[in-house]
Amino acid sequence: MKRIFEIDPWQVVTHQFKQEDKRLQESMTAIGNDYMGLRGNFEEGYSGDSLQGTYLAGVWFPDKTRVGWWKNGYPDYFGKSINAPSFIGLGIKINGEQLDLAKVKFSDFALALDMHQGLLTRSFVYEGPDVKVRFEFARFLHITLKEAALIKVKATVLSGKAKIEFTSTLDGTVVNEDSNYDERFWLPIEEDKVARSIQVKTKENDFGTPQFTVLLKESLRHDGQVVEGEVTSASAELAEKLTVALAEGESYELEKDVIVVTSRDVADADQKAKATDLMTQLQSKTFEENLADHTAAWKKRWDKSDVVISGDEAAQQGIRFNILQLFMTYYGEDKRLNVGPKGFTGEKYGGATYWDTEAYIVPMYLCVTRPEVTKALLQYRHDQLDGAYHNAKQQGLAGALFPMVTFTGVECHNEWEITFEEIHRNADIPFAIYQYTNYTGDESYVKDEGMDVLVGTARFWADRVHFSKWRNKYVMHGVTGPNEYENNVNNNWFTSTMARWLLKYTLERLPKATEAAQKRVNVTEEEKAKWQDIVDNIYLGEDKDLGIFLQQDDFLDKDIRPVSSIPAEERPINQHWSWDKILRSPFIKQADVLQGIYFLNDQYTMEQKEKNFDFYEPLTVHESSLSPCIHSILAAELGKKEKAVELYQRTARLDLDNYNNDTVDGLHITSMSGSWLAIVQGFAGMRYNNDELSFKPFIPDNWTEYSFKINYRDRLIEVKVDQTGSHLTLIAGENLTVKVNGQEFELEEGKTVNA
Ligand code: BGC
Repeated sequence: MKRIFEIDPWQVVTHQFKQEDKRLQESMTAIGNDYMGLRGNFEEGYSGDSLQGTYLAGVWFPDKTRVGWWKNGYPDYFGKSINAPSFIGLGIKINGEQLDLAKVKFSDFALALDMHQGLLTRSFVYEGPDVKVRFEFARFLHITLKEAALIKVKATVLSGKAKIEFTSTLDGTVVNEDSNYDERFWLPIEEDKVARSIQVKTKENDFGTPQFTVLLKESLRHDGQVVEGEVTSASAELAEKLTVALAEGESYELEKDVIVVTSRDVADADQKAKATDLMTQLQSKTFEENLADHTAAWKKRWDKSDVVISGDEAAQQGIRFNILQLFMTYYGEDKRLNVGPKGFTGEKYGGATYWDTEAYIVPMYLCVTRPEVTKALLQYRHDQLDGAYHNAKQQGLAGALFPMVTFTGVECHNEWEITFEEIHRNADIPFAIYQYTNYTGDESYVKDEGMDVLVGTARFWADRVHFSKWRNKYVMHGVTGPNEYENNVNNNWFTSTMARWLLKYTLERLPKATEAAQKRVNVTEEEKAKWQDIVDNIYLGEDKDLGIFLQQDDFLDKDIRPVSSIPAEERPINQHWSWDKILRSPFIKQADVLQGIYFLNDQYTMEQKEKNFDFYEPLTVHESSLSPCIHSILAAELGKKEKAVELYQRTARLDLDNYNNDTVDGLHITSMSGSWLAIVQGFAGMRYNNDELSFKPFIPDNWTEYSFKINYRDRLIEVKVDQTGSHLTLIAGENLTVKVNGQEFELEEGKTVNA
């Protein structure tokens, strides 16, 4: 655990700069606008250890697979969000000395991410041999003019005289740090000194995946007027230099406006003209006016989704940081996109789509965005069904297998224990169809396109299990559950339970599907009988004495001991132990049996929930960011308040406090919804089964109040919980009956019900 930013309800702020924490700081100060995103790199450049990161949503490259030993079935490539041409560069020389915080003397450092609107600011005083200059930077990525990035720097001479040289750059020579063969993915097309633009394209590839072009254009302004410096260019690079001389007390403000267009939206030949139009649009307003528009749009988002916590600023900061980062990554405005585990904040996980989206993003976005946003996420998978059929075929199996990692539906991940074995995803992904239908009451998707997904995945599961004559049951061998700290296990309870759920749900929904869908999926009577037989006879391990579901056949053979027996200096174990030691240990990376109990929450008794929680929680190291929120929600349901709060903090502040010592790689975007879920489904106990919305709230002892809003079936409801009880207000929409602590209440627009 390491906290390098101060606690503040609306800011992520620090007054310290330590070179050894630079990468961590960069992750924490990443900004995005769900079109593009940037790590918190310094505009003026930095020669110390740093990860330069610029990412454009949906722009990726198929990096040829690199493995030690090729296994049949491995995908040909690992798709990666490309580290895109960098456009923030604004190099600075003061009286000939290059401004580089790794080398120069400076004081009075401050760095802040304002969470109202994702505005990043930084200031410090440069202390040269005979001059002191205060620098103040500000930048944001516009959310209503998505192609625009705005950067501003102000230099004020505090003492002495300064000749300041600014060099604005566009740099297309960037390489991915994690490139498998040290390849540069970008090739130059053109540098245009007059238009101040560069255009680059991705290398051709052998995999039939899309190639992208990107055009970047910059323009400098001073006092609202465009200023032109001296321009030089090299292959895929452009630099514009401007020099000013300032006496003591004088200051100079320079603004760098940038437009980024890609071939996802604009044909190559039209990119320059489009960028020019967008630049005109951007420069029709000042920096401040643009910021005001951007902030107003953010305010609308916050008005619908802010979670307010009184009495615990650390908890408050955590949830706001998570909501901000989530919305900066994805707000559902482009149906072609999805949510990568690290968003735009680092290279790990390649910016690709994981099961994280359906399991973690969907349940939150259902409540805080419009239903169409979730529907678009469902549609995304439907559109990728061909890829899923291809993946199953690669494994020699029937039906459709959704990938662990993908951009197109085709699997990109190439570790056998994940690619071939971590197949629980193939039920978790369709589970979102159930979630959507249950929450919105809209049956149209499951009746039609959803059926293609359900039947495709059902066919996979029916082929993936086999019948054990010895057990007289269907079994599932060679799988990896969500707990990636054991592989190639048999009968992982979670995977088998979710496969069973999928088959059962498909059988239930099939007769209600549209005629067209039934025709398309063409399920035979024989298939249905087989699926039903699997539902009735799949083996789900249990230990009756302990009252627990068995994570996998051999789990109880392990040397079962609690996480508390691991010496503190050996945590996280994935950074200290050999993989062999981890695999044989009883320690669980993330919710596994408990993930199943969370998903299918209405199917288990409180006793079953409690016994499993009490058994598995002490064994769980939560070294996946996806884990603590699930445990927090279950702890809350079981009345284990302290545990629920502890695990909430761990989820909400996972990156702010660098719990797993891995935030240097980027933020854990997909698990950020976990803190929202821990409050709403955990503390407030929200459930939505069988067309009934219910709550069972509690409030942590040290909080005075918390409140949130949900969008439920055309209604906007505010839930406030304080130490006296809960207060529900129907802000907009028709009357609705809800249950609070088992008692029914009628909500009426504009009125508050105290429960
Ligand atoms: C987790 C997976 C998850 C992935 C991306 C891994 O560490 O074990 O469940 O899908 O991270 O978030």
